[in-house]
Amino acid sequence: MTKVWLVTGCSSGLGKLLVLAIVARGDRVIATARNVAALKQFEDNPGVRTLQLDVTAEQDIIDAKVHDALGKFGQIDVLVNNAGFVGSGVWEEVSHKDALRQFETNFFGAMNMTRSVLPLFRSRKSGTLLFVSSIAAWLGVGAGGLYSSSKFALEGAVESLHDEVKHLNINTHLLVLGQFRTEILSADRGLARRSENPIPEYDAIFDALLQRQIATDGKQPGDPQLAVQRIVDVVRREGVLHNVENLPLRIPLGSDAVEIMRRKCEETMRLLDDLALFAKSTDFADVHAVPSYR
Ligand SMILES: NC(=O)c1ccc[n+]([C@@H]2O[C@H](COP(=O)([O-])OP(=O)(O)OC[C@H]3O[C@@H](n4cnc5c(N)ncnc54)[C@H](OP(=O)(O)O)[C@@H]3O)[C@@H](O)[C@H]2O)c1
Repeated sequence: MTKVWLVTGCSSGLGKLLVLAIVARGDRVIATARNVAALKQFEDNPGVRTLQLDVTAEQDIIDAKVHDALGKFGQIDVLVNNAGFVGSGVWEEVSHKDALRQFETNFFGAMNMTRSVLPLFRSRKSGTLLFVSSIAAWLGVGAGGLYSSSKFALEGAVESLHDEVKHLNINTHLLVLGQFRTEILSADRGLARRSENPIPEYDAIFDALLQRQIATDGKQPGDPQLAVQRIVDVVRREGVLHNVENLPLRIPLGSDAVEIMRRKCEETMRLLDDLALFAKSTDFADVHAVPSYR
């Protein structure tokens, strides 16, 4: 069965490559971008329809866009919440507006898109929801809090969503990406920019992030062409995932993703070993069993 995908943020990077990978496997795709001119290369492709879509639009506009998208091929089977950007800056320097801007795209954009698509998936009891998360959701570094918090929040919300929709035969996956060689850290995209009123005490922290980004841009270990192939494997259960019935919620991509997630788990295990007695010392003496969340 061929599937119809709806993908956000297809003007560049992973989104753009994903459109081509989807069509190459025989599926069809509604490629969206906030600047539709950036989708020109797809216009003559019979497997692709294009649509202008800014994920930060109001819910009624997003609903109307999803309605338009549905009309393109008559169905939507897969939503890929890919649109995102990297915001940076230390807590004391970033404004509430900076934080909202980051969350409006990376968190609320994905939430609102999903809210628009869910009635469709719920009524026919099938569909796949993909969310592009990051190792930044597993590791917060100095001056990286805006991006990390948006992806941490996304992971928390999607974990709950997964629990809400699995009985409806809706597949939900968080793709936890390591560093992939796209334009995401380029000077006109995510490269850290200092606030207009820098606080000297944070110079070294900010500079460490900026220098790390400069040294990383264009040298990321992950190949985005391979990432999009694996993403199509996840949805179509192809390649090494051939015939795999139940995939987990979180799917790491990239050896650095495996490393960072593993380190976080090991650190958490050590922390629990060290502090379990201390933590348990706050229980009531007459504690009775209460329902578990799992
Ligand atoms: N590359 C990595 O190392 C990496 C690692 C972990 C996670 N990710 C995640 O992967 C996703 C794709 O990133 P990428 O590496 O492909 O970077 P990218 O080349 O910068 O692509 C980001 C895409 O998101 C779009 N976008 C941003 N704000 C938008 C909005 N309000 N509405 C619609 N589209 C919007 C951009 O469109 P414009 O051209 O209009 O800006 C662009 O098409 C992001 O969610 C990112 O956080 C990437």
